[in-house]
Amino acid sequence: MIALETGQTTLFVCVTCRAQAAESAPPDQPRAGARLLTAIEALPAEQRAGVVVVGVECLSNCNRACTVAVTAPGKWTYVLGALDPDVHVQDVLTFAQLHQRHEAGLPAWRERPEYIRKNTVARVPALR
Ligand code: FES
Repeated sequence: MIALETGQTTLFVCVTCRAQAAESAPPDQPRAGARLLTAIEALPAEQRAGVVVVGVECLSNCNRACTVAVTAPGKWTYVLGALDPDVHVQDVLTFAQLHQRHEAGLPAWRERPEYIRKNTVARVPALR
């Protein structure tokens, strides 16, 4: 079980996602999802403030990998897909920060990174 911290947003990153195109990396190399997690964790701590980053295995969005989920207690949950670990790290973190700052976890549409707007797979309301 994963304990969610009040006031913080949790960013789940699927570490078992493969790249959308045929994975060209040798089997002993990290998968695209694992590289996405590594790239997010490599960002300066101040950029990750308020966001807890957790690696998980399979978010059931394998056909639109890479995949992450953004959630927090009492807030909406978002599943984001078709992420490239070499391109979308900052977009993912920006969205997670917007989610963390909004009381209900509903970042304003116009403030969301464009790629995230176009690649949001699902959103789920909070339990009350
Ligand atoms: S392996 Fe990443 S969503 Fe299934």
